[in-house]
Amino acid sequence: MIVSKKMSNLTHNLLNWYSKNKRQFPWRVKKNIENPYYVWVSEVMLQQTNANTVINYYKKFIKNWPTIYSLSKAKLDSVLFQWQGLGYYNRAVNLHKTAKIISKKFNGKIPKNYETLIQLPGIGEYTANAILAIAYNKNTIGVDVNINRVISRLYNLNSDNNKSEISKKIYTLLPINKCSNFMQALMDLGSEICRKKSVNCLICPIKKYCHFYNEKKEINFDALKDKKRKFLFVYLIKYKNQIILKKRKKTKFLHGLMEIPNNLLNNKPSLKVAKQNAPLNLDWKTLPGKLNSKISNFELEIRFFQAQVEKKITLKNTVWVKKNEIQKIPISSLMRNILYYLNPT
Ligand code: ADE
Repeated sequence: MIVSKKMSNLTHNLLNWYSKNKRQFPWRVKKNIENPYYVWVSEVMLQQTNANTVINYYKKFIKNWPTIYSLSKAKLDSVLFQWQGLGYYNRAVNLHKTAKIISKKFNGKIPKNYETLIQLPGIGEYTANAILAIAYNKNTIGVDVNINRVISRLYNLNSDNNKSEISKKIYTLLPINKCSNFMQALMDLGSEICRKKSVNCLICPIKKYCHFYNEKKEINFDALKDKKRKFLFVYLIKYKNQIILKKRKKTKFLHGLMEIPNNLLNNKPSLKVAKQNAPLNLDWKTLPGKLNSKISNFELEIRFFQAQVEKKITLKNTVWVKKNEIQKIPISSLMRNILYYLNPT
């Protein structure tokens, strides 16, 4: 296995992006991610099921069976009962079987090597590598469809049937002792930015290394012209190292989340008019650059204005936040990406 000693710039950028933009899930909180049993349970649940659906099942499961011993002693019927609605019930049967084996043969400790893990019921190549990477920070990662797509696009590989090429490329990128974050970063990139259909290259933290972006960017811009488009004007208000975030109105869409004040329009106004439509009469500067993104069934063109204020102003339904507080605030992934792009404080 070739693991480069020096972290590549690509890996560095990706890890940096992940530290600011990672999706928050209960299996990612420190006390859970450090427990290999919990990592195993989450990875099994996540294999065939959407992450948001898994959240409640995961919480209930580890509450009911907080240790591998407790799971090994549980009645299979009660495990299956808990699994109702998740589907693919064999996963639950195998979790239960393997919990018994690990309790008996391995002293309740999930093995730390691939060859042993792969022998256990329900643990295949992906799950074994995911446990080794995520729980034990070993120098490997599990390659799911998202990661497969990201790597294939980065290096222009054919994503079907090209496992060994993809693995070779991955091994040149692995950061020693940081593979837990690295694997999850690739997953998040695949689900938030490098999506199958609505690719969001412009806000990708590793686009400059990416074959797909460098080859296709012209085509992407042209393709946008024919689609349904909307225009988002974002108004960043800064005071020292703080910015204003506003609570979204109670609409059906993203209700309750915080966002940078903005206007969403169906038609494109001139920048002058967009400035006049700002939520407050301030000394607005146009920030260079624009982003393109895709939201549900329309393309968004996003532009930015910024105003620096001398003292903290108050605005209805808003809060001032510092950079290090943003991570704890519920905001949409689009806004998180915009904040990452603007890097405002
Ligand atoms: N899908 C599979 N494993 C995952 C993880 N650890 N976090 C989010 N989505 C996942």
